[in-house]
Amino acid sequence: MAVIEVTHPLVRHKLGLMRRKGISTKEFRELAAEVARLLTYEATRDLETESKTIQGWAGPVAVERIKGIKITVVPILRAGLGMMNGALDLVPSARVSVVGLYRDEETLEPVTYFKKLSGRMKDRTALILDPMLATGGSLVAAIDMLKEAGCRRIKGLFLVAAPEGLARVEAAHPDVDLYVAAIDERLNEQGYIIPGLGDAGDKIFGTK
Ligand code: PRP
Ligand code: URA
Repeated sequence: MAVIEVTHPLVRHKLGLMRRKGISTKEFRELAAEVARLLTYEATRDLETESKTIQGWAGPVAVERIKGIKITVVPILRAGLGMMNGALDLVPSARVSVVGLYRDEETLEPVTYFKKLSGRMKDRTALILDPMLATGGSLVAAIDMLKEAGCRRIKGLFLVAAPEGLARVEAAHPDVDLYVAAIDERLNEQGYIIPGLGDAGDKIFGTK
């Protein structure tokens, strides 16, 4: 498994802004979308292109275009929705596959409550979107679902990941590449990432 920490100065700056105590819902949501755009840019670097000759203003010109129709973004409900529009800004024709998972607050294990995947999953590259990779349980469950549906190329995009979660995903799904804006220090006793962002879902939706 490759873990790509996207250390572009814009990503570092924006993530730093997101860590501020008392940040407004509006600003957190805007920054989540902006960082999602930058992660998507990195995660799509290896998309295949094909050459095509078109009529340009001065005659025929060879251009490149993305081959096929093959991306599905996969926001993990709820917080992953905060990254969806940022990703779709760059791949506007991508299909959206939605997976609903929440973490049981006692056991920290994921509970699945929704799944609606796009068609032709075998042909698609899936870009899983979730701001937080903490214990890794939610991501492992989401990847299990995508693989059951036949998906063979899966990447995950996260704002912040904990080393413990990265190790769990590596053990379960070594073929999946992860793009993260930051790898933080650790999890606390409640399974929150330190220093982290706090509860990303609550901050994106303005709950609590
Ligand atoms: C958060 C987050 C991830 C999960 C990460 O979701 O958005 O999906 O926790 O934790 P894990 O790596 O330990 O599984 P949460 O359960 O808070 O639900 P929400 O998105 O509905 O707020
Ligand atoms: N979910 C969050 O929203 N934040 C964390 O730090 C861990 C899980």
